[in-house]
Amino acid sequence: MAEDSIYNKHLDVFLLWACRETGILEELLDGPVTAPDVAEGAGVTERAATVSLAALAEMGYVEESADGYEATAELDGFRPETDVLERGILPHRIDSLDHYMDLPELMETGEAPEHTEAGLRRYMAAMATIDDTTVRSIVTTAEHAHPRPERVLDVGGGPGKISEEFARRGADVTTLDIPPVVDLLESHHAEAGLDVVAGDARESLPEGFDLVVSARMILSFSPEELGAYFENAFDALEPGGTFMCTERVWDRSEIATNFAVHMLTVSPNGHMYTEAEYREALEAAGFVDTAVREVPDTPFQGIVGHKPD
Ligand SMILES: C[S@@+](CC[C@H](N)C(=O)[O-])C[C@H]1O[C@@H](n2cnc3c(N)ncnc32)[C@H](O)[C@@H]1O
Repeated sequence: MAEDSIYNKHLDVFLLWACRETGILEELLDGPVTAPDVAEGAGVTERAATVSLAALAEMGYVEESADGYEATAELDGFRPETDVLERGILPHRIDSLDHYMDLPELMETGEAPEHTEAGLRRYMAAMATIDDTTVRSIVTTAEHAHPRPERVLDVGGGPGKISEEFARRGADVTTLDIPPVVDLLESHHAEAGLDVVAGDARESLPEGFDLVVSARMILSFSPEELGAYFENAFDALEPGGTFMCTERVWDRSEIATNFAVHMLTVSPNGHMYTEAEYREALEAAGFVDTAVREVPDTPFQGIVGHKPD
């Protein structure tokens, strides 16, 4: 059996996408249901219902009992009652597939799909699945560039995992994100004890920090937006402060080009930057001793600059 057959690669995402679109998923979440129940409720053929349920069972998304098929915990991320940050990456992955289907149009127009409020929730849930090893490695790499930072600004902090790790290590952390994200995650950030500011990194940043960091944000910026962000990061720092953003650098990361295709479905302005382009942009903003370093055990690089004393 060919490993690279289309039905052997990401079939679960394709199938769950179709189940979400048809309403099969909704039927299952209200289960237990039989194949004829699903066929009737979702308006699909009985053949499609039978085959889909069998495949979902083999994939571990449903299990069969005497009363029919029931969703397993693997589908909890699709339940509206599941906490926003506990929904996992799967619902967002299905959105990504949806957006890939729009690629021909996105390629022609240069636009990107709008984030609906529900889509933003799914995006944040996906971002919250960043693993602890990656979070610790990003924070440790930043601390190598600037040991024991007292005041840290985490730009585009999203669910706040990286902010929380800096806080756990004793820093006074401010997390900044765009207003819809700050509103959506207000109670989560408050529970985590994070000091949160709404803003736009391309416009302005709060000041007075000795370390400014961001992770997985800048690939959505055009070169002009990147330049504006780097200038704002420079202004946000005290003299002697350090800036580090964590990304996939085009000529340093094996998956950068694939990710660039993914970014076509995320942002209208994104750009893949080389190490030289990052360092040039940092230096244009006033940073010195610029460097691009590996973030160990992650697919990321740290792009580092220092503000002179
Ligand atoms: C891929 S998520 C990464 C979240 C977090 N840094 C992490 O690595 O887990 C990118 C984050 O950057 C935020 N973001 C994007 N553009 C931004 C901007 N112009 N200003 C501030 N935040 C922005 C997004 O809302 C999102 O929360």
